[in-house]
Amino acid sequence: MDGDLSFNKAPDGAHGGTEIQTAGHVTVLLQEAIDFLAVRRGGTYIDATLGLGGHSLEIARRLGPQGHLIGFDKDPRALQLARERLQQAGAESPVITLLQGSYAEIGKHVRPASADGLLADLGLSSMQLNDPERGFSFQAEGPLDMRMDPRSERTADQVVNRMREEDLANVIYEFGEERRSRRTARAIVRARPIRTTAHLAQVISAALRPMNKAQARIHPATKTFQAIRIFVNRELDDLKALLEAAPQVVKPGGRVVVISFHSLEDRLVKDAFRDGAKAGVYQVLTKRPEGASEEEIGRNPRSRSAKMRAAERT
Ligand SMILES: C[S@@+](CC[C@H](N)C(=O)[O-])C[C@H]1O[C@@H](n2cnc3c(N)ncnc32)[C@H](O)[C@@H]1O
Repeated sequence: MDGDLSFNKAPDGAHGGTEIQTAGHVTVLLQEAIDFLAVRRGGTYIDATLGLGGHSLEIARRLGPQGHLIGFDKDPRALQLARERLQQAGAESPVITLLQGSYAEIGKHVRPASADGLLADLGLSSMQLNDPERGFSFQAEGPLDMRMDPRSERTADQVVNRMREEDLANVIYEFGEERRSRRTARAIVRARPIRTTAHLAQVISAALRPMNKAQARIHPATKTFQAIRIFVNRELDDLKALLEAAPQVVKPGGRVVVISFHSLEDRLVKDAFRDGAKAGVYQVLTKRPEGASEEEIGRNPRSRSAKMRAAERT
């Protein structure tokens, strides 16, 4: 991990407003996450997934100058935009430390039992999804990239064009929960070389005709794109490492809040909190995951699949 962009105070007079770019990203479950974090003025808080800084800005505003906000993101572009946005905290800004790298490494950067809270809002931001050049979207023509961290070696192109058919089918099955994984993998291997997201989406669509109305509602490439993205970014391994580190870096009475967007993530969070409660390190605050309100879903369709869980370090 590198690129410590630490800075102390935002310049006096920095102000909010529409000129600060949010790149189309609307923060999900903002008020709910902040409520569960129960931010203490003067405390130390970790935002494991800065993104566009939507949650972080609200945390920063509550921390005050004696507080400390530590933010992580794999994506240097996200860090840059979050940094600009955090200037809106103005003279009341806490000390802010921004780090480029994976939240899997939080334990290496944050002292044990030093944080009053940790938030993780998993997955991609709309800024990443909507940029065709990043290769995340099957709805746009772009290179097969899908890396959140442009320095990492594994790309979607390598997975799509070089992986053995059987291994590719396993990735699609395991990380996409796609039941027709073998058929999908076979079609991809036969169509090689595939160089763009649009070509990949078209190959998958041709291979997977919807078998019922439910399948017809979602694009046939949805699950395979999710699978490749998770594999390229080692998302579930990173999440497991974060969930292991969280009770170590958060002090007793501190909160851990995680927002996930698909069942594979949510299962890991649920199990980690349940096991933590059994081991006496957590009290679980959400019996069931909290979702977005109808009003929020209407405003921001991306929030439909969000599930938030929270626990307190005992
Ligand atoms: C949903 S966005 C966060 C949005 C943010 N809460 C906001 O309101 O602006 C998730 C962010 O987490 C980052 N991310 C995903 N996995 C990560 C990891 N393992 N380590 C660090 N950052 C990660 C992504 O690059 C993305 O910017």
